[in-house]
Amino acid sequence: MTRRLVRGGVDQAAAAIRAGGLVAMPTETVYGLAADATDPIALARIFEIKGRPHDHPLIVHLADPENLAVWAPDAPDSARRLAACSWPGPLTLIVPRSDRLPAAVAGGRNSVGLRVPAHPMARELIRSAGVPVAAPSANRFGAVSPTTAGHVIADLGDLLNPDRDVVLDGGPSPIGVESTIVDCTVDPVQVLRTGAVTAEQVRSILDADVVGAAGPSRASGMLASHYAPRCEVRLVDTADDAAALAAGTTGARILDLTDDVARYGRELYTALRFADNEGVRVVIAVLPAAEGLGHAIRDRLTKAAAPRI
Ligand code: TXA
Ligand code: MG
Repeated sequence: MTRRLVRGGVDQAAAAIRAGGLVAMPTETVYGLAADATDPIALARIFEIKGRPHDHPLIVHLADPENLAVWAPDAPDSARRLAACSWPGPLTLIVPRSDRLPAAVAGGRNSVGLRVPAHPMARELIRSAGVPVAAPSANRFGAVSPTTAGHVIADLGDLLNPDRDVVLDGGPSPIGVESTIVDCTVDPVQVLRTGAVTAEQVRSILDADVVGAAGPSRASGMLASHYAPRCEVRLVDTADDAAALAAGTTGARILDLTDDVARYGRELYTALRFADNEGVRVVIAVLPAAEGLGHAIRDRLTKAAAPRI
């Protein structure tokens, strides 16, 4: 029955957005639950279906880098430079929110996160809808992000309305972890969430200092426990440590894709979901080296392993 939600056509999905409906949108990072970013009623449904607190800001997705000037006329120089070098791509820029975007999309803040996704289907959808689309990851709040249309159906299929909403199937997300978030409203800019665009890349584009998140937790991804599957997750540094721990643990499964970090990113959330579906009690995950995309994978695994609230 929920299969009725899955429709291939971008045109139909764009019409759903324009009519105030929701569209599960494939992106290169993870699937997003998209709605017209200028429509507070459609936005309210995103928060409701995700079970997300209203003060948690959404990312607004634009079709083209040139649109930054339209939707964020006060974007600082750092944001313009990062957009010019990294969009379309897995980088979200926090910039001052203009009155053209409602406060609801930003959880009431006067800043907003903007991103131009690289997935062709996402860009076609946004272009065809003719409005920027707000899209959090298309999962229930706090759970593991979806990287396939099937994941979205499993998480939200019963909550979406086949008469109004659409799940677009764009295949598996090629990166598999959420975008890097850089707060450009502060100087030096802060990396609030790590992703496929590294802090080193941001530093070299800006030729300036880049720091980690300081001050109160400002991105939900910064909550200690987030991106959490149902099973317990334990972290180890080597394959040998994983084998030793597994030997003494009932219902354990080892997750180790450290020999191919890009694949680790692509398959991380699928592996955690699969473990849950199989009734695995403990996933023993080997941490990748702290370099490149490895930083983001370590971050998500650490949050998946954090004590649950
Ligand atoms: O890769 C991604 O970014 C995916 C795809 C769909 O684009 N989206 C995503 O959205 O991960 P979400 O809602 O799951 O995570 C958005 C993060 C949250 O941690 C939120 O707090 C932060 O972005 N964020 C958004 N606007 C912000 C703002 N104005 N200030 C600080 N953090 C902000
Ligand atoms: Mg999320």
